[in-house]
Amino acid sequence: MEKLIIKGGKPLQGTVSVSGAKNSAVALIPAALLADGPVVIENLPHIQDVGIYAELLKEMGADVLYEDDWMEIDGRPLNPVQMPNGKVKKLRASYYLWGALLGKFGEARVGMPGGCDLGPRPVDLHIKGFQALGAKVENQNGMLVLKAKKLKGARIYLDLVSVGATINIMLAATRAEGTTIIENAAREPEIVDVATLLNNMGANIKGAGTDVIRIKGVDKLSGCRHTIIPDRIEAGTYMIAAAATRGDVTLENVIPKHLESVTAKLREIGVVVEEADDTIRVVGQEKYRAVDVKTSPYPGFPTDLQQPITVLLTQAKGTSILTDNIYSARFRHVDELRRMGASIKVEGRSAVVDGGARLHGTKVVASDLRAGAALIVAGLVANGLTELEGLEHIDRGYENLVGKLTSLGAEVLRKVTRDTGRNETNTR
Ligand code: EPZ
Repeated sequence: MEKLIIKGGKPLQGTVSVSGAKNSAVALIPAALLADGPVVIENLPHIQDVGIYAELLKEMGADVLYEDDWMEIDGRPLNPVQMPNGKVKKLRASYYLWGALLGKFGEARVGMPGGCDLGPRPVDLHIKGFQALGAKVENQNGMLVLKAKKLKGARIYLDLVSVGATINIMLAATRAEGTTIIENAAREPEIVDVATLLNNMGANIKGAGTDVIRIKGVDKLSGCRHTIIPDRIEAGTYMIAAAATRGDVTLENVIPKHLESVTAKLREIGVVVEEADDTIRVVGQEKYRAVDVKTSPYPGFPTDLQQPITVLLTQAKGTSILTDNIYSARFRHVDELRRMGASIKVEGRSAVVDGGARLHGTKVVASDLRAGAALIVAGLVANGLTELEGLEHIDRGYENLVGKLTSLGAEVLRKVTRDTGRNETNTR
């Protein structure tokens, strides 16, 4: 078992480079399968979800070369009927295989996805989209079986703004006959990134980044090169950590526009944030104001930063209310933060934070990826040692976390506990 040991109380100082976006990477990799030639994806983050996806593709017969921060994917040898094994359960984004395989072969047999436990995460809108394009969809003992003689463009209204459903419909519609229009589409930068890759492959997608996306089906897609956008959630996590530890951190390789809602919220709290072309500097202050945070689809405040910003608000004066409008039960970090001295109660889909807490280190467990990020921020702020378990969640989404935090002056190390009872330490 591995633990993260954090000695808190030191302000983060220095410069950190933001990696490629996880939630783009896990959509771009299956998107590449649609091409009739090799696709090279650059600026890939070195995280577990990317590694698992590479393995999945190989098991399905694709040629995959994965080196450092790039991957070459050739989907031509792919076997259309082979079903990926249990790995699909290891990540949420395996659901993009539905859209990619349906778009490429007119059929797909892929298990239901896994991912963080954030309460109910239905996929009805994905299915509604595939059906509108002419696919027959059946759930056979936990495996989604999709079949279409010929996919045909359609007008699809999404009842809820969904990142996954928007991307999946784009994937399936790219090679469909005729035009597909997605209304009430999600506008996340990751959707624009996927549309950019598909267009570079020869697709005809217009409107990505707005709430109406038009996809004119094409017959053929070819290989290309693509560089992934920076991870706005990783960037936001470091911004919050810098503010919470009253540090001074410059983030490199960011698109400040993608972080507007986060920057605005931090400024409201009293944090100094300076933006330049592709850098953001965050200067922490002694005193912070309580604010309310409501998560919503992009360009609103991201649900993926709701848990980390809760920690910053434990350091503010007054009561803050955080409402998660995307995931009603994304509050599994709260009990752990309470054990560290925070005063937070959960009321329905809101967390009510009484600020001014003096956090202290203790043993805590990450229940999901961003809960883990929140507990790391708490550990950096707390007095004494925090021992964090559940690192498998954090490894899914943060590249070189220990290295990056250490370079900012944090005292963080990974400890491997062997069954022999002896402890070994290493940092990575
Ligand atoms: C993506 O999940 C991200 N994951 C999540 O990242 C992120 O929290 C989420 O978007 C919201 O921004 C990936 O990109 C791999 P949704 P996704 O479909 O696509 C409901 C992280 O920490 N809904 O936009 O699965 C759903 O329950 C994570 O990096 C339906 O009701 O999210 C939710 O309430 C975790 N039916 C809302 O819509 C559906 O068919 C938005 O979900 C689909 C979604």
